[in-house]
Amino acid sequence: HRHLLGIEPLSPTDITALLDRADSYAELNRQPDKHGDALRGLTQINMFFENSTRTQASFEIAGKRLGADVMNMAMQASSIKKGETLIDTAMTLNAMHPDLLVVRHPQSGAVDLLAQKVNCAVLNAGDGRHEHPTQALLDALTIRRAKGRLHRLSIAICGDIAHSRVARSNIMLLGKMENRLRLIGPPTLMPAQIDQFGVEVFDDMEEGLKDVDVVMMLRLQKERMDGGFIPSEREYYHRFGLDAEKLSHAKDDAIVMHPGPMNRGVEIDGTLADDINRSVIQDQVEMGVAVRMAAMDLLARNLRESRAA
Ligand code: CP
Repeated sequence: HRHLLGIEPLSPTDITALLDRADSYAELNRQPDKHGDALRGLTQINMFFENSTRTQASFEIAGKRLGADVMNMAMQASSIKKGETLIDTAMTLNAMHPDLLVVRHPQSGAVDLLAQKVNCAVLNAGDGRHEHPTQALLDALTIRRAKGRLHRLSIAICGDIAHSRVARSNIMLLGKMENRLRLIGPPTLMPAQIDQFGVEVFDDMEEGLKDVDVVMMLRLQKERMDGGFIPSEREYYHRFGLDAEKLSHAKDDAIVMHPGPMNRGVEIDGTLADDINRSVIQDQVEMGVAVRMAAMDLLARNLRESRAA
């Protein structure tokens, strides 16, 4: 693959190869000297047109650990503010010969469009409601390390599915790896064509969480609800917020996940989120660096091969 734009084009073999490499980077990241040289001599530009804490920080750390020259474009201070288009901005940066472009954009499809215009590898760091592939990969690595496998698990994805690129990428990845998926949330926050996903759908947490191995919570994405129905936070927490009582319906060793940023007391109880016996939320953040190192390493290999050919 030349780019990492989504989970959709990846095969189970691609996913396993990336996770295996990420596993070895996870070990490197725990050593006193965390440096590798897979990206030495390469230039990485991070372009975030939407806010980010985890994704931007981990892509920057990942690039630096592997020896790339990393530049974070401050999009708020860029000429986008003077009316320059996304494509003109990308072409301008492309003329400076970057090797890796990491892009987050509020519009679904914007990163794919940009990838068609530039001659470097593009990594999608989240586009609208479409895909967030490195998030799904880091979630997969976290599950594989916690459960010892990434197949035939029963996994519940809960909350605002309709507005979530994290849910879309995870449904695709976990489905490709032959897991049983359950989506739980209010019908107003389910995607319109839910039947095409091949999943079970519930609007009751107790019923949906019964005997699952993994509970993945999502944030209520109010910024994407543009004028539509926004549930009251109190009512939402009562019905769909994960607490110890609702979790008791899952398997005794079920793990709790959240991609962040989380709203404590809205979709998840703060004490449960901090309970290291159940919650793997900080492991997800740790695996985020390893997965982004692996993704950029593999794309850089392909880039070097195609340039040498
Ligand atoms: N999970 C995630 O994408 O977090 P950020 O928006 O902070 O990058």
